[in-house]
Amino acid sequence: MNVDLVSGALGAEVINFDLNYLNNKNFEEINNLLLEHKVVFFRNQSLTLEKFIEIASMFGPVEEHAYVKGIEKYPQITRIIKAANEKNQWGEGWHSDVSYDLTPSKVIMLKSLKIPPIGGDTVFSNMELALETLDEVIKKIIQNKKAIHTSNGSKFFVENYSKMESNGKIGEQYSNEHPIIRTHPETGKKILYVNPTYTKKIVGLPDDESSDLLNYIFKHQERLDLSCRFKWTENAIAILDNRSTQHYAIADFYSGRGLGHERVMDRISIVGDKPF
Ligand SMILES: [Fe+2]
Repeated sequence: MNVDLVSGALGAEVINFDLNYLNNKNFEEINNLLLEHKVVFFRNQSLTLEKFIEIASMFGPVEEHAYVKGIEKYPQITRIIKAANEKNQWGEGWHSDVSYDLTPSKVIMLKSLKIPPIGGDTVFSNMELALETLDEVIKKIIQNKKAIHTSNGSKFFVENYSKMESNGKIGEQYSNEHPIIRTHPETGKKILYVNPTYTKKIVGLPDDESSDLLNYIFKHQERLDLSCRFKWTENAIAILDNRSTQHYAIADFYSGRGLGHERVMDRISIVGDKPF
């Protein structure tokens, strides 16, 4: 399988491979690429919804989102829609998906259905490198500490994204504690596992100390030399390791340039482990 590396930090685009031909043998190869590069991209993929689910299922059991309603007949698929004149889009801001769940998703698959001529790229960031490059003193402080991750709730979601629907669990909030340094269950590598969207507090520290430390780490995680940026084209697929990365869907839809175009993606996620 031929790949083009997307940046020096992470990301690989697989060239000329039709995911319709994925089988148990070449799946191993794709999974190894995913573990190595943390996010893999494919372009010009024509997949039925059934095939999309089938491919995702090779990574493990597919799950439904905590508070977003799935599409008709396929509740496992969440359709991410940004209306033409909407400035916001779901996924803006650094995060790893559903880190507030007890067992946050292992892998996320995204497929682009409709992409504006300009704007709406996604940036991914390597959280193994983020840990590796973190100040040694900070590393010592966070060793063996846990942090609380809390969802923003579907109320926020319904109010901000006009074309998306909640699954009805309005007002529900999910909250869980995870180690700040987690271990990748497949590679054994250490990962910096906090994010500015969902991580609210470090367990056992006074509020001000916790927020100073978290803000320092969030700033470090934003470093551009830890990231890669993907410019979507229609029918592209991204498969991302949600344990070792964060991502940020850039909402650069400004009037006279990026505004005025719909952006539609299908998303599917795979059940993860409890971080350790
Ligand atoms: Fe996301």
